Amino acid sequence: MSDRRFETTTVHAGATEDNLGGFRPVSEPLHLAVSYVADEMAMADAVFAGEREGYVYGRYGNPTVRAFERAVADLEGGEDAIAFGSGMAAVHAALLGAGAWQGRTLVSAGDVYGATYALQRNLLSEQGVRTTFVDAADRDQVRGALERERPAALVCETISNPLLKVADLCWLAEAAHAVGAALVVDHTFATPYLARPLDLGADYVVHSATKYIAGHDDVMAGVVVGSAQPIDDLRERQKLLGANCGPQQAWLALRGMRTLALRMAQHCANASRVAEWLLQQDRVAVVNYPGLPAHPQHELAERLFGGRGFGGMISFDLRGADKPQVFQFMDALQLVQPATTLGDVFSLVLYPAHSSHRALPPETRRALGIGDGLVRLSVGIEHADDIIADLAQAMTSLG
Ligand SMILES: Cc1ncc(COP(=O)(O)O)c(C=O)c1O
Repeated sequence: MSDRRFETTTVHAGATEDNLGGFRPVSEPLHLAVSYVADEMAMADAVFAGEREGYVYGRYGNPTVRAFERAVADLEGGEDAIAFGSGMAAVHAALLGAGAWQGRTLVSAGDVYGATYALQRNLLSEQGVRTTFVDAADRDQVRGALERERPAALVCETISNPLLKVADLCWLAEAAHAVGAALVVDHTFATPYLARPLDLGADYVVHSATKYIAGHDDVMAGVVVGSAQPIDDLRERQKLLGANCGPQQAWLALRGMRTLALRMAQHCANASRVAEWLLQQDRVAVVNYPGLPAHPQHELAERLFGGRGFGGMISFDLRGADKPQVFQFMDALQLVQPATTLGDVFSLVLYPAHSSHRALPPETRRALGIGDGLVRLSVGIEHADDIIADLAQAMTSLG
């Protein structure tokens, strides 16, 4: 674990362990080999036995993937990390690691990424794991569910998708631990630039590294960070379940991560400006952004994120709009791209009701506050004036 400043850690974390006869490459090499031959069979035997680090087979470990894992562990202040082929594989692994087995229960924020919701509500329930969904901002509701269910884990997102609620991680960790539950935090929206959930009591931190960590729309990967033993246990499971992150993906993610601090500073600055602008538009009924003083968890966000900013994600309700009008708005955009992702250098919009949260029944979406006019905006690192100009012309096109 490094005690250097975040900006320095993003550049140097996970530095290569390669040494070519006394010469060390500056940037991480890309190791594509699937299998490795040890100098002596006893060395490979020790790796298979888990008695030493080393490489025998791609599903058991790869040096480029390991460099990426060490880097994210460093950024999050965790003892170790393990990478997966997608954010969802990482969410699934973290839940398994936290004890989502037959006969156990979970308590989860209802306002989470749609696939995380559906994973718990549909797939895990088929496997005998029941999930109670709560409003993570309602302490009585959370405490009540924890005491009633005595769950294996409490699941939340630091900044929620798509309503941008902010989780009180210290309080949630204490409440979860009081009933013997682990706290699993999806930190995709906030990134370690804004906060480090492990320092605040979380047990597992999950990232869709597809998003801000990689940041350039060319990687699909996920990571789980935590203490050494739980991550080691996940590594053993990964040998059986697969879902590994490939070396090219890890290499690109690590390459992207080197500029995370710079990108996040720009995302935060741009999003603040765009949120302020949206707030003044007649066509916009509601703006969800933790940086706005009217946001219900604005003070919490200020404390949690220590003045670094409030992230690059915004959601807003187009006043009185239904699906065709939202589509008309999205089709009219020329710079901001209507794409099914977030956290990239590009500004992106998404309609949660038809993509990220499509798996939720419409009545559940409505009950959560995901209305037919809700648009999610991932503010990129272009010039804020250009982003605003594009949003303005698309709104004008609505008449
Ligand atoms: C908060 C959050 N967690 C997890 C995921 C899943 O990540 P991936 O698409 O890499 O599987 C997403 C995807 O959008 C997300 O927004």
